[in-house]
Amino acid sequence: MSNVLRQHAEQQFAEELDALQKVDDRQRPANWKLSPWAVLTYLMGGKLANGFEVSPKYIGNSRLMEIAVSTLATDRALLLYGVPGTAKSWVSEHLAAAVSGDSTMLIQGTAGTSEEQLRYGWNYAELLAHGPSEKALVPSPLVHAMRLGKIARVEELTRIPADVQDTLITVLSEKTLPIPELGSEVQAVRGFSVIATANNRDKGVNELSSALKRRFNTVVLPVPASEAEEVQIVVKRVSELGRALALPAEPPALQEVRRVVQIFRELRNGQTEDGKTRIKSPTSTLSTAEAISVINSGMALAGHFGDGVLRSADVASGLIGAVIKDPVQDQVVWKEYLETVVKERTDWKDLYRACREQL
Ligand SMILES: Nc1ncnc2c1ncn2[C@@H]1O[C@H](COP(=O)(O)OP(=O)(O)OP(=O)(O)O)[C@@H](O)[C@H]1O
Ligand SMILES: [Mg+2]
Repeated sequence: MSNVLRQHAEQQFAEELDALQKVDDRQRPANWKLSPWAVLTYLMGGKLANGFEVSPKYIGNSRLMEIAVSTLATDRALLLYGVPGTAKSWVSEHLAAAVSGDSTMLIQGTAGTSEEQLRYGWNYAELLAHGPSEKALVPSPLVHAMRLGKIARVEELTRIPADVQDTLITVLSEKTLPIPELGSEVQAVRGFSVIATANNRDKGVNELSSALKRRFNTVVLPVPASEAEEVQIVVKRVSELGRALALPAEPPALQEVRRVVQIFRELRNGQTEDGKTRIKSPTSTLSTAEAISVINSGMALAGHFGDGVLRSADVASGLIGAVIKDPVQDQVVWKEYLETVVKERTDWKDLYRACREQL
């Protein structure tokens, strides 16, 4: 097993990508490692003709992934949009890995992202010694992707200041990036495209200009449609992460995962599953990603300080941390939920007690 903490998708799933490449005899867009069909199979999982099993990466509506993949095969860029924790970054990484065999050409958008980070910067020692030259140029991941005909990823696009975002317009519409200092340009090679992600919950985000919006096809990734689907996602990711982190705990009982997911869904939807009781929603987003980390930290607690079996006390602390983001407002919501819902469920007594103790 490799020693890095987290492998890139193309490293972790090298075997699957290899197997797909071998059976994939469909037409591939220029510079793509796989055909759109094979990219979709990589994302959604499936059994190949030779019996090889490809694991699903995205669990949900495959139509969304079809739209995402076919967008990349056109001259438009792809924007994955949605609330936090709906697998936008995850899908973006796997798409880049499957299409280009490389998911590392990544720009993380922040309020401090500058035009240089999007375009190119200069090696100042070289610049002062010998003047502007190709050698003094420090290309951004975007420029690398343009030269190689691969996918560039821009994370959290809407956090980037609006004027800096607009740098992307020329790149996306003209497929070129001028370098006036050298009197030259970088022309994108076929296969180049951009996958951006953005979430709509953050405060202080910079709306995309309509000029930029027009250059993207937007795919909205939804929260999981059903409880069963959400449980499936959590179970799958928890066991993968538990293995990667070598947690000394048994995989959690399905029932414990179900309970966490149910609590998340009820609080998110503002009513109990049977629709009988209305409850208040906390300010926290309570995404699937957070359900995954609640179970995961519970497993770490159980493994290191318990008997290796995930119990309600291990889940309770993570749950409280995930739900109570605003110490005043959310505390009230959580207490009310505990007293009106959790307490009343006869087989949830252990969880009720554990949560009460930790309040
Ligand atoms: N539908 C899904 N299928 C598979 N995995 C999912 C799904 N939804 C969430 N996940 C899991 O949730 C975790 C977090 O996802 P990710 O970091 O991609 O979220 P995000 O949408 O980028 O959130 P943010 O807006 O906070 O950046 C990943 O480990 C991913 O596997
Ligand atoms: Mg993300």
